[in-house]
Amino acid sequence: MTEPVQISFEAVDIPALAEAAGSIAVFVPAEGNLAQPLRRLDRMVKGVLKRAIESKSFEKLDEGTGMVLAMPSGIEAEKLLVVKLARSPGLLPARKAGSWVARNMAEAGVTVVAPNIRNPQEIAYGLALRAYDFRVYKKAAEEETPRPKVVFQVADAEATAAASTPYMALVEGVFFTRDLVNEPSNVLTTTEFAARLAAMQELGLEVEILEEEELEKLGMRMLLGVGQGSASPTKVVVMKWMGGGDEPPFALVGKGVVFDTGGISLKPASGMEDMTMDMGGAGVVSGVMRALALRRAKANVVGLVGLVENMPDGLAQRPGDIVKSMKGDTVEIINTDAEGRLVLGDVMWYAQERFKPSGMINLATLTGAIIVGLGHENAGVFSNDETLAAAFITAARREGEGAWRMPMGPAYDKLIKSRLADMKNTGGRAGGSITAAQFLGRFVKDDVPWCHLDIAGVTVPPSETDFAPKGATGWGVRALDRLIREKYEAE
Ligand code: BES
Ligand code: MN
Ligand code: ZN
Repeated sequence: MTEPVQISFEAVDIPALAEAAGSIAVFVPAEGNLAQPLRRLDRMVKGVLKRAIESKSFEKLDEGTGMVLAMPSGIEAEKLLVVKLARSPGLLPARKAGSWVARNMAEAGVTVVAPNIRNPQEIAYGLALRAYDFRVYKKAAEEETPRPKVVFQVADAEATAAASTPYMALVEGVFFTRDLVNEPSNVLTTTEFAARLAAMQELGLEVEILEEEELEKLGMRMLLGVGQGSASPTKVVVMKWMGGGDEPPFALVGKGVVFDTGGISLKPASGMEDMTMDMGGAGVVSGVMRALALRRAKANVVGLVGLVENMPDGLAQRPGDIVKSMKGDTVEIINTDAEGRLVLGDVMWYAQERFKPSGMINLATLTGAIIVGLGHENAGVFSNDETLAAAFITAARREGEGAWRMPMGPAYDKLIKSRLADMKNTGGRAGGSITAAQFLGRFVKDDVPWCHLDIAGVTVPPSETDFAPKGATGWGVRALDRLIREKYEAE
């Protein structure tokens, strides 16, 4: 796994900054007044800090961004990073400031001087989230490039380190998700994916792998049909974190299509390589479970992922085939590329039958249509329950993860009516994300509060985001962890 950067918290020591390697970062509020310790640093660098914060460029900065002073005299560091940030910053500005430091620090690392900022652990969290670099397949191996050294000088090193500990569990969860999503499909097969989840048993998670024979017995023909053209076996992995009391668990269900060619309804060549990320929903579920275990969450949560590969083959499922779901409903396959709903329907049904969850959220890179509707800034939120939908959207907003409510309703059901079976797997171009959600809704029991998150646009956006470099974002891990922490966790 991509290791998070190690951050140490120490007491404030301004004279020691003269020898600090790499870079030094300081925070100055918009009013531009330097705190006492920083005035000492300013004298060391011959007043360049003061000049910087009195400049027009500093005035123009947005909160949480900064300016780079290169090769300042009087100190050994090659960069002095001056970041605009209030003394009592909001959660997101503080994290963005940390992320800005991660993006601009020298290779050797950074000494972050935050003697009088409230909650410096938020800055550290943002820094750690952004300092992600997936370089497993680059020739310059991990060992050759030394890892950046990050030191925080804060008023109360012990308290800040303690406050930072649960955040570092989250960082590891997010990185686990990003790694899974960034991995190519020749490496991250269904078997390899399941093995990486099984390895989490070390953290105290219960992990169970259901193989094809078992899935066949359970009647998951809808799921199995998707994988029948692939050499990789279809699997369902069940992860359990029972850190709460004896209340029923909350269920997370993820689409884990390790590669989506479209199957016999083959996708066009251009851009098909992006479909290595079609296991993004399963990736998020796995990352959340890892974070919950690492921070020993006092909640009962089960995470289920359907791992499968959608390939064209002599044995592959055909358009026109009719399959029976575990629930018993039959589905006419119109387009083999609408496979995510087939995967989720069976796994969601199984999750409810087995665990009787108090609520359920599923995540999937389900439709291209959600990208047309919401772009790469928001995931689509579809729900049968106002309370759960509102709680999730609030949690996502607080974490700076875009989530936007989308409509559902019985009127859309006519679009997925089949002449031959109980439903068909596509509803045409109009409202493509909604008909996909309606399809999933058929596999949700009446009394189960449920959200479907269509994350096709936010899993691997075209450019870097606030807290992630270009590539997999791990969108949703933080929002779901917050939701669980605030709504399902005992004090
Ligand atoms: N995995 C795709 C959706 C997708 C598209 C994810 C772009 C990420 C980026 C999904 O399985 C799919 O192919 N959906 C089809 C559905 C259609 C055939 C009804 C789509 O969106 O075109
Ligand atoms: Mn598809
Ligand atoms: Zn897909």
